[in-house]
Formats: sequence, C-alpha cells, structure tokens
Amino acid sequence: MNTAATAGAATGPRPARLGEPLPEDLLDEGERLTREQLRELQLDRLRATLRHAYANVDLYRRKFDEAGIKPDDCRSLEDLSRFPFTTKADLRETYPFGMFAVPMADVRRIHASSGTTGRPTVVGYTENDLSMWADMIARSIRAAGGRRGHKVHISYGYGLFTGGLGAHYGAERAGCTVIPASGGMTARQVQIIQDFEPEIIMVTPSYMLTLLDEFERQGVDPRTTSLKVGIFGAEPWTEAMRREIEERMDIHAVDIYGLSEVIGPGVAQECVETKDGLHVWEDHFYPEVVDPFTGAVLPEGEEGEVVFTSLTKEALPIIRYRTRDLSRLLPGTARPAFRRIEKITGRSDDMIILRGVNVFPSQIEEIVLRTPAVAPHFQVQLTRRGRMDHMTVRVEARPGTGAEQREAAAKTIAQGVKDGVGVTVEVAIVDPETLERSLGKLRRVKDLRQQ
Ligand code: DLL
Repeated sequence: MNTAATAGAATGPRPARLGEPLPEDLLDEGERLTREQLRELQLDRLRATLRHAYANVDLYRRKFDEAGIKPDDCRSLEDLSRFPFTTKADLRETYPFGMFAVPMADVRRIHASSGTTGRPTVVGYTENDLSMWADMIARSIRAAGGRRGHKVHISYGYGLFTGGLGAHYGAERAGCTVIPASGGMTARQVQIIQDFEPEIIMVTPSYMLTLLDEFERQGVDPRTTSLKVGIFGAEPWTEAMRREIEERMDIHAVDIYGLSEVIGPGVAQECVETKDGLHVWEDHFYPEVVDPFTGAVLPEGEEGEVVFTSLTKEALPIIRYRTRDLSRLLPGTARPAFRRIEKITGRSDDMIILRGVNVFPSQIEEIVLRTPAVAPHFQVQLTRRGRMDHMTVRVEARPGTGAEQREAAAKTIAQGVKDGVGVTVEVAIVDPETLERSLGKLRRVKDLRQQ
C-alpha cells in the first residue's frame, strides 16, 4: 500500500494519507456545517422541494392528494415519513418527461438508465442541478484523496448512463485534468494509463478487474502504474474485492454510490482515510431506511431499503424514492455531520431465493475471492431440475492450475457457500479467460430457469 511519503510525491499533488483528514481549507461550505445547522437547512430545503414537486408535477399532486397530505404539513424532518413513496414504476408511467418540474427549455441535459426490463427511466437536469451534481462529485473526489492538479482517468461509460459525464464534470470542478476514456477498448486504456500517468481512476470495480487482467496480459505489473486511488461504484462490490484490487494495484480503493433517479454518482462517498462506509451528502439528498415490506421507517443502525429525497433538485425533484438497495444508516465519522450508509452489498431485486434461502451474489463473491486457486471472475447460473431450482457457480481457474487443485478449489467454494450461506450449490471451475468480462456494470447472475 502507498504510504504518504511515496504517494504522488514526485508528481506534485498527493492524495490524502490514510488517517489524515481533509485539510480544513479544502472542505466546502456544506461540509463545514454542524449537524444542527445541517438539519435546519435540510428542513428548509425539504419543505421547498415538497412545494415545488406538488405545484409542478401532476403525479406528485395526485399522490399527495390521495394520501391527504399537503407540502406544508411537513413541519419536521420526521414528518417526511407521512408522504408517499416514489418508485421506478412512477417514472415509467410518466415516460419520458412527465415528472419534470420545470419547462423543457430549462432542462439542460437528459440521462436515462437502461434498466433490464421495460422502458428506460429518464431524468433531467437544469443548469443549477448540473452545477450541484458537479459540486457533489468534486466533494466525493476530494474525500477519496483527489486534489486539484491530479489527472483522473474516467472509464465509466459516457452517454445516457450517468457515470461517465457525471464523473467528468465533477472531476473538472475539482480542478483535476480529465481523461475521458469511457468504457471499452481495454488494451488502449491500459496504454493510455501508462502514457498519461493519471493518479486517479473512476470505473466500475468489475471493469477494473478487466483492466487489471489486461495490464498483466501486456506484461505490465499494475502495481507500478501512476494510479494511487480508484473510485469504484455503480454496482455492488465487497470488502474482499477491495482487498483484491488494493493488493494487485497498490492503490486505495474507495466506494462511490448514486443512482440516476436521485442525481447519478455522487449521492454518497467513502472517505479514503476511514474506508468505513459512504457519507451521504445530506445537504442535497435526504436518506431514510425503511422496512422493504411494510415501508415503515427503521431506526438508525437497522438494515432495510434505502430511500432518498432530493433537497435542491429543480428539474426532477424526487420524493422518497425507493432505491431497492439494502443498507443501514450509521452516524458520520470522517464528516461528522453527514450520516453514512454501510457499503451496499445487494439490491432486493438481486436477491436469489434458492430453495427458500436468500442468496446475494456478493456473498458468493466473498467466498470466491478468498480461494487462492481461482481468479476473481465468476458467474452464477440458475437452472431448474425437475421442480427444484439449482445454482451453479462458474469460477475461472488461475492460469496453470492443475486438475487436482481445481477439484479442491471447487470443493472449498461449495463448502464455503454451504457453511456461509446455507445452500448447496454446484461449483464448476472453468478455464482461464472463458467467462464474460465486464465492460461496465457486470451482470453476475444468469437466470436460465424459464428456458
Ligand atoms: O450506477 C450511478 C453511478 C455511476 C454510481 C457511477 C456510481 C458510479 P444507475 O445506473 O441508475 O446509476 O444505477 C443505480 O446502481 O441503485 C445501485 O443498485 C447500484 N449502485 C450504484 N453505486 C453503487 C455502489 C448509477 N457503490 C444503481 N455500490 C443503484 C453498490 C451501487 N451498488
């Protein structure tokens, strides 16, 4: 792992040292608020958002009226729980622009999330929205250890996906030099990283693995690159994956979270000095955690579905959006005024129910990554045998692994899943370089049960 003495010393600005807080003069206005000041600001902004949504979006007006509630009934932050939820279905129903709260002429940009089923979800941004978004990404980059003058290689996809352009304008706002690589052309990206010498990379963790393999294929030791920090998000990844990437690349790997409906990346960010979950940028996004079945708000510390309300957005105010992401709220640490969400290891819709047991792909990831004979590439296949659902975990062997070692690895993984998750699965160790590689967000689960 990099130490402060070596991190970027020769190339000018250096990322934060682990355990070293962001210098006071680099904190922005929102980060300097006390918890009490923050709560006051949140209430003002929340009330304004509720009024804006009610006055300008038919769907909100209808839903609030049906629930018998008016924006002015919100007199405390706790009152928010009396307002109805918003879901992806609401955005689909109003496709494409029905939830925009400003005239189209004031919408400067549109993004859309492809989704796996149905229509895409369309989101819009005013100039102020884009500026706030850039501020939040800039804040996230600083929290990750990035500084003015650093070069940031962005491998999140550019286009309708919020990852690429979101990161791009935020990195510029942070005073960094942007290398807009987007996804794909992996061999060329590896070359560019060697030639342009960025300190920071922003990419999905699964595509980082693809890049890592390519470094090794080209005979380059990834530990020797200029990279010091990776800002990884857009999909779940585990602590085991953090260790894998940090060790193979000699970088700090930190987590960035967000979703299109709320803004895109930059809703919450892990601080490099603590790596202990993601601080929610609560001056713009108000988090709640609810029971996924009853919708009741859960107390801090309890696990449930994360729900967000935007506090300053103009084009697409979003009230109590059900993310489907599972986590818990924790008190702030490196940014004491902002609460954290624990690293998200799954979505309620990623959850596989196998013969009555809940299984998340992230649980399989932990087990695969602690098995030395296999590479960190795996896929979960679901099939039906007779009346029974069946899960096969396909894992790539590391190059040069013999038949005996493969068999032993398969047994270890199957036993790990049995002990850790409580289900019996089949493990197939496949040849190196045979499983599909990620170019962005990776789909780990192949459901063949309908075929
Ligand atoms: O993935 C925004 C983003 C881009 C975040 C780049 C971070 C980096 P969507 O395509 O709308 O937006 O997908 C949002 O991705 O509800 C989560 O299920 C998942 N997700 C995003 N970040 C994380 C993360 C972008 N750090 C959906 N950990 C969210 C786990 C994440 N899951």
